[in-house]
Amino acid sequence: MDFRVEPSSVHDARVVVPGDKSISHRAVMLGSIAKGQSRVTGFLPGEDCLATLRAYEAMGVSIQRHDATSLTITGAGLHGLRPPAGALDLGNSGTAMRLMAGLMAGQAFDSELVGDESLSGRPMNRIITPLTQMGAVVESDCDGTPPLQIRGGVRLRGIDYNLPMASAQVKSCVLLAGLYADGTTSVVEPDVTRDHTERMLRTMGVQVVTDGSRISLAGGQQPEGRSIQVPADLSSAAFVILAALLADDADVSIEQVGINPTRRGVIDILQDMGADLTLENERMLGAEPVADIRVRSGRLQGCAVDPAKVSLAIDEFPVLFVAAAAAEGETRFSGLEELRVKESDRIAAMAAGLRALGVQVDETPDGAVVQGGAFSGGEVESFHDHRIAMSLAIAGSRAEAPVIVRGVDNVETSFPGFAALMRTIGIAIEERGA
Ligand code: S3P
Repeated sequence: MDFRVEPSSVHDARVVVPGDKSISHRAVMLGSIAKGQSRVTGFLPGEDCLATLRAYEAMGVSIQRHDATSLTITGAGLHGLRPPAGALDLGNSGTAMRLMAGLMAGQAFDSELVGDESLSGRPMNRIITPLTQMGAVVESDCDGTPPLQIRGGVRLRGIDYNLPMASAQVKSCVLLAGLYADGTTSVVEPDVTRDHTERMLRTMGVQVVTDGSRISLAGGQQPEGRSIQVPADLSSAAFVILAALLADDADVSIEQVGINPTRRGVIDILQDMGADLTLENERMLGAEPVADIRVRSGRLQGCAVDPAKVSLAIDEFPVLFVAAAAAEGETRFSGLEELRVKESDRIAAMAAGLRALGVQVDETPDGAVVQGGAFSGGEVESFHDHRIAMSLAIAGSRAEAPVIVRGVDNVETSFPGFAALMRTIGIAIEERGA
């Protein structure tokens, strides 16, 4: 499927975007190994989280779906999962595969984790190395990519692990394996990454100690089922924020969005670029801080993006590249090497897409220099990456002529209803073909 986007602009609006992907995955995973029931509201019914949900159902967990966004999970307990009949297919989701590898390493049975073409090319040695140090037996393809074969019935021991890269997925994988390990498991982060796993574990009664950059937990702790309210996903809200910032004259509010300090880098970076963004009605929703985000259109200024903020905005660089391309002057991005191993090589994908729309982009090994200017019409590739597709669609809406974004099916992994929501706020976007 493709998007066809015509020159258009957002009008004043108040919108709700779907639930947070990271928190929805964790709700299913932790709810499944909890003791007792977890009622989940605001769940993201995107393909990635549905793959996680199906994987736990395949291991015998009872998950009752009341409607698309609310579930009741009857936890099987730490040791209550049952061997699945076949391989667990995690689709496009790196989060599902890396977090589940940690959990599966602690089970009594063998398992196999598989994914789609994109996931099958993504690096897994970053989790295999620490899991192996814990005593797990995990095999991948010879180049360290999925499928993963995980042996069950092995005894895990706690480790003290210095993460070589800032990655919430690797941190969470090790901590979740740590629940099944003898002794204490600690990870030390080189930069702060999203802490949803730690927050949810604490809500479920597990003692997780954060001491500076070191996060530790003792093995054998049984999470307790709880009610989990999932906030709207800031990573999805970012597309609405971008569309509103680039509009002629719009005032848009997005309700109940997660603004966890370990995730809100996009807000800070856009404010550094001069964006008129305000947080209203700040409050806690369960363990996570949320706010209504109010955005008013206005000119952005290019800047040198602070590399210290990269891990706090890791999924929002496609959006920030488009913001840079629409800003006055030059924007310099650095410290983005992790973007090369996301659902696509996001530096290369955005450089190619923006160049096809007439923007000057000079790629560097760990970033890019983007010259602000105007977007021409044209055809661009999403590289089957949901965030590339959505970012280029918003750029397309501000172009001088129509833009076609090729291969956008994977938008369903994180933002079901993206095109329909964008139409409600004034963007002329159509989905074409199958
Ligand atoms: C995620 C962590 C990030 C992010 C991904 C979701 C998570 O990956 O890019 O979309 O839910 O833990 P890394 O931890 O590999 O940077």
